[in-house]
Amino acid sequence: MTDTQLRQLIEGSKAILLENWKEGFTVPTKNLYPFQWNWDSGFVSLVHSYFFLFIAMLLLDTLFKGQWENGMVPHILFHSENETTYFPNYDFWNSNVNQGAPQKPKSSGITQPPVHGFILENLLEKFHDNEELLAFAKDIFPKIVHFHRFLYTYRDPNQEGLFFIYHPWESGRDNSPLWDESLDRIQIDRSKLPTYKRKDTSLADSSERPTDDQYDRYVYLIQFGKENQYDGKAIAKESPVLIQDSMMNAILIKSNQSLINLADRLVMDKAELEEWQQQSIKSYNDKLWSDELGMYACYDMRGGKQIPFKEIGGISPIYAGIPDKQKADLLAKYLQDLHDRGYYLCPSFDVDSPLFDSKRYWRGPVWPQMNWMIHMGLKEYGYEGLAKIVKSDLLELVRTLGFHEYFEPEKSLAKKLSRGYGGDSFSWTASSVLDLIHST
Ligand code: GLC
Repeated sequence: MTDTQLRQLIEGSKAILLENWKEGFTVPTKNLYPFQWNWDSGFVSLVHSYFFLFIAMLLLDTLFKGQWENGMVPHILFHSENETTYFPNYDFWNSNVNQGAPQKPKSSGITQPPVHGFILENLLEKFHDNEELLAFAKDIFPKIVHFHRFLYTYRDPNQEGLFFIYHPWESGRDNSPLWDESLDRIQIDRSKLPTYKRKDTSLADSSERPTDDQYDRYVYLIQFGKENQYDGKAIAKESPVLIQDSMMNAILIKSNQSLINLADRLVMDKAELEEWQQQSIKSYNDKLWSDELGMYACYDMRGGKQIPFKEIGGISPIYAGIPDKQKADLLAKYLQDLHDRGYYLCPSFDVDSPLFDSKRYWRGPVWPQMNWMIHMGLKEYGYEGLAKIVKSDLLELVRTLGFHEYFEPEKSLAKKLSRGYGGDSFSWTASSVLDLIHST
């Protein structure tokens, strides 16, 4: 890539972050997602730090203003109650059925990947001696631990060190085929489903979004969560969807480790974190590794079995230092093969599966923030060449197809396109690109 092209990517990222900044938070993209999203905010705060460190801190601070008393950090914060272009909006979630949910900001009733621990460590690596950042880190550290404690307390009924999700949106990989079998288990009685109108398909191409049938099931699970005040014991007992997600748990382990690494410097207690961490890493390798797949798998607690698909979450533990060298080699080989076969890294789902759909959201496309995590993990394990490919693939996709939400993985097809998929001017696309440019 030429210097001019790189400069254009840097300028483009900057412009998007300015454009998507509202007072105190950044929207993922203006029309499609007009509120504050949880894990998006983590990635985006990294990059705000290049311009204004205080904005990076403010963004995380605003996110944790939405933390519930039980520790959960919700997946969406609805800072504005007048915005009507999004479904399901705050009134549909009605999160105040849970006594510990703040009255303001209103929020959704589910969570998203706990990225904040590793984001904090990353910020402190970038600005090692910054006094304001250190003070901020001391303030937010216990709140992040409280979030992790929520996951270990409310979402780990068998005390295995692996927490469950009960709504696909919690995973951040909303419509991945991973969840299909569990969703199909739901007996939908449409007469009992509240009437609702999707807004996403009028803002983005419906062939790039989840189907209506999937949406009914998402809405059913919101109703189910609401009836159980979003943290009731019945969720673990009765939810038709109950999954230990490979990516969510890898991210938790990564963030645990970051907090452990920071604890002494911030004069914080780390005993509880170390206990969680030891158990989680062991259970992760014991329960989620699949010899058949040659990668990690999610575990369907309702069905009592692993979910046998190759997908991006099964590779993500490379970012958390979970696999030993032998397992890591298999993950690297999977990526190398895809590259050799003419795919941009990293497709979100198995390109050889009949369920693969290169356009539809999490059923195939390349997602920028996943490339960021996988790149960092590959580097950590010493797969330098592959890490470079993961980085340059994303930069090339964004340079040629724009700052979109997700991208066509098949190179021969992508060459014929003039844009990426989903929303445009996307914040975490900008943040992943910019941070990867700085990663050598
Ligand atoms: C979609 C993605 C999710 C993301 C959100 C906002 O729902 O699946 O991971 O957080 O959009 O960008």
